[in-house]
Amino acid sequence: MINNKEINNSLVKAYNHMAATYDKNRDAFDMTGVLNDFYESLEIKKGSLLDAGCGAGEPFADWFIKKGWQVTGVDLSDKMLNLAKDYVPQMKRICAPMQEVDFEDNSFEAITAIYSLFHLSPDDQKNILKKFFKWLKGKGSLLFTYATKEYTHHDTFSGYTEFMGEKLYYSHRTPDELENELTDIGFVIESFKYRDIGNETFLWVTVLKR
Ligand SMILES: C[S@@+](CC[C@H](N)C(=O)[O-])C[C@H]1O[C@@H](n2cnc3c(N)ncnc32)[C@H](O)[C@@H]1O
Repeated sequence: MINNKEINNSLVKAYNHMAATYDKNRDAFDMTGVLNDFYESLEIKKGSLLDAGCGAGEPFADWFIKKGWQVTGVDLSDKMLNLAKDYVPQMKRICAPMQEVDFEDNSFEAITAIYSLFHLSPDDQKNILKKFFKWLKGKGSLLFTYATKEYTHHDTFSGYTEFMGEKLYYSHRTPDELENELTDIGFVIESFKYRDIGNETFLWVTVLKR
């Protein structure tokens, strides 16, 4: 039985515990290709970005701010957000689980959830994807990292696995189920691309709100 409160409490504890180490090791995950491809695919290249699970604000929030965007970062770890305060002071910081925040419809030109959405339970993922759709403006894009069997060794998964010495909750469905879920919500699929970054293979998904 999934207990969302328990999942979030364990994630706060784990990410608070590893905040400094995670941040020191973040450069091992080269995001240049991801950032360039996402930016290239954007139909609107200026505006407001929501970074859901922003961590220390690097490299995504920082990269977009340097390009003149306004960035709101949501993260449930106060220690990660403290790092972000130093690295990306211009980012608006909200310390909360992304499931609990709300924004007006049509608020953002782009939304990113980098290495974060897979920490939500399957139902919460479905709900937040619906919210992302509402919060995006027309022609806005969403980019997120999705776990698959290449990472968990299971076709579908909901459970705890180890990362940097911490037990973290992950969940995912199959890529086909995800694709159906996204198109049912109304998203147009731009790309489903497996990338091996820092010896970890994840599915990188870009979708568009027409
Ligand atoms: C692997 S880190 C990635 C951080 C950042 N996106 C990056 O690329 O460096 C995952 C982040 O997601 C945050 N997170 C996990 N579950 C979350 C949730 N339900 N709501 C908000 N933040 C969450 C964690 O606190 C952590 O900072």
